[in-house]
Amino acid sequence: MALMFLTETIRAYRQRDPAARSNLEVFLCYPGLHAVAIHGVSGFLWRHGLHTLGRFVSHIGRFLTGIEIHPGARLGRRFVIDHGMGVVIGETAEVGNDVYIYHQVTLGGISTAPGKRHPTVGDNVIIGAGAKVLGPIFIGEGARIGANAVVVAAVPAGTTVVGIPARPVEHGGPAGEARSGGYGTPADPCLDPLLHELDILRGELTELESRIVRMAKERV
Ligand SMILES: CC(C)(COP(=O)(O)OP(=O)(O)OC[C@H]1O[C@@H](n2cnc3c(N)ncnc32)[C@H](O)[C@@H]1OP(=O)(O)O)[C@@H](O)C(=O)NCCC(=O)NCCS
Repeated sequence: MALMFLTETIRAYRQRDPAARSNLEVFLCYPGLHAVAIHGVSGFLWRHGLHTLGRFVSHIGRFLTGIEIHPGARLGRRFVIDHGMGVVIGETAEVGNDVYIYHQVTLGGISTAPGKRHPTVGDNVIIGAGAKVLGPIFIGEGARIGANAVVVAAVPAGTTVVGIPARPVEHGGPAGEARSGGYGTPADPCLDPLLHELDILRGELTELESRIVRMAKERV
C-alpha cells in the first residue's frame, strides 16, 4: 500500500514537474509528498477516534513542510502539491484523484457552523499558486483555477476560472478550453476578465465621443 502510494505519487510529480530529475530527488526534496504521507498517518489516527494525536501528527507535518492538512480531510490518489509552502486544507475538504495544486492554495471554509464547510475538488483539477477556494462548493472534474483567484462558487467541469471573484476565461474555442498545462502564469489583477471587458467598453466610449465631436464640427 505504502509502496504503491510512493511509486504512483513520485511518478505523478515527475510527469507534472519538469524540474523533477529523479525518483530519489522527489522522494527527498518534495514537501508535498512528505505532507501527504504524513496525512496518511494523521488521517488514520483521526478515523480511529484519536483526534488529538491525529491533530498533533498533522501539526508536526505542518512544522516540517509548511503544508497544513487537517487529518479529517479526504485526499485522492496521486495528489501533487508543488512547492507546498502555505497550503491549507480544511477538515471537511475532499480532493479527487490526480489533483495538482501549487503553494499558498487554501481549501477553506467561510462558516463556523458544523458540517461540510470546505470545498470538494473533482479529479484532474489544477489550482494555481495563491488561489483560495472557499466554502462547501464543488470544483468540477478537469477544471483549472488561475493563480491568485478567489473561488466562492461552484466551477463546472473543464472550465478555467481566474480573478477575484473567479470567473470563467473565454478562449478562442469553447469557454475553458485548455491552451497550456497551466504552468507558470503571473497574477496581474489587470488580467481579470471583467477588467478586460471594461477596457474594451472604455475604448468604445472614447470612439463614440470622438464621432460625436466630429459630427458636431461638420454641422457648424
Ligand atoms: C489560469 C491558467 C491555468 C490559464 O492558462 P491558459 O489556459 O494557458 O490561459 P492563457 O494563459 O491563455 O490565459 C487566458 C486568459 O486568462 C488570463 N489569465 C491567465 N491566468 C490568469 C490569472 N491567474 N489571473 C487573471 N487572469 C489570468 C490571460 O491574461 C488571458 O486573458 P485574455 O484572453 O484576455 O488575453 C493559468 O494562467 C494559471 O494561472 N496557471 C497557474 C500556474 C501557477 O500557479 N504556476 C505556479 C508555478 S510555481
